[in-house]
Amino acid sequence: MSICLVVGASRGLGFELTKVLREDGHKVFATIRSEPPEPFPKGVVPIPDIDLAHEDAGRKIVEGLHGTRLDLVIVNAGVFKKETLDSPSFADEVEMYKVVSIAPVFLAHHLYQADLLINPSKFILVTTEGGSITLRTREEGGGNYGHHGSKAAANMVGKLLAHDLYDRGVTVTMVHPGFMKTDMTKAVGFDQFYESGGAVEPSEAARSLIEFIYRITPEHTGTFWAPRGPGDIGEAERVLGKYLPRPLQLPW
Ligand SMILES: NC(=O)c1ccc[n+]([C@@H]2O[C@H](COP(=O)([O-])OP(=O)(O)OC[C@H]3O[C@@H](n4cnc5c(N)ncnc54)[C@H](OP(=O)(O)O)[C@@H]3O)[C@@H](O)[C@H]2O)c1
Repeated sequence: MSICLVVGASRGLGFELTKVLREDGHKVFATIRSEPPEPFPKGVVPIPDIDLAHEDAGRKIVEGLHGTRLDLVIVNAGVFKKETLDSPSFADEVEMYKVVSIAPVFLAHHLYQADLLINPSKFILVTTEGGSITLRTREEGGGNYGHHGSKAAANMVGKLLAHDLYDRGVTVTMVHPGFMKTDMTKAVGFDQFYESGGAVEPSEAARSLIEFIYRITPEHTGTFWAPRGPGDIGEAERVLGKYLPRPLQLPW
């Protein structure tokens, strides 16, 4: 049994990750921005009132752990607000960068300072293939600057944390969990691509992500992966070629 922390577990992928980890017999802590949703997976210990857009989130998570040391941290919370060149949003960009690429630094800092990351342990950042600069093409087009930019920044943060935490035995890995049928994709109108884009339920993506995490070794530190392979990555074949493996290592 491992002791796990899922950050951002109220719904979507995060909620399903807590269920899969419990099914597999692990002890699970899960942060929630407000109150735990009903029903909350049995046995999962909620850490409520954690807003990653606030500076105190990392400190409050450490307080909520009451000294429990962790084998696995999954930073799942994310925000996706649509933008075009005609209507970018300063406030939305600030929110996306805070939650997606700034909060993980401060979470890692507080866990590190409190010595709550076991040696060896795993620190997983759920980013997205959308955070890969290499996979952005003219055919796909531009836009959604804060979304892509904050996820690319999160990939950079993960790479740097991998170096900083190497001597502590913490493997830091970035993952694209797959194209999922969640509130996030529906809210930006991506539900029109569910069929053509191979979107799956978050429960299915959670299971494949956890199976991948079990197989991660220290050699994976500072790398970026799509556990479900290229099938739901729109520009994968155009950029990387045909017959790509699963799991697929992604380019920055
Ligand atoms: N869906 C996809 O196709 C897809 C593809 C690639 C990557 N991803 C990534 O996978 C992760 C999960 O996505 P999802 O589709 O499950 O999204 P979702 O259904 O929209 O859920 C987002 C989660 O993040 C939490 N969150 C948002 N802002 C927060 C904040 N300020 N403080 C604390 N928690 C906050 C939400 O909590 P509240 O309930 O409090 O808002 C919720 O638990 C994200 O990082 C996303 O970028 C998703």
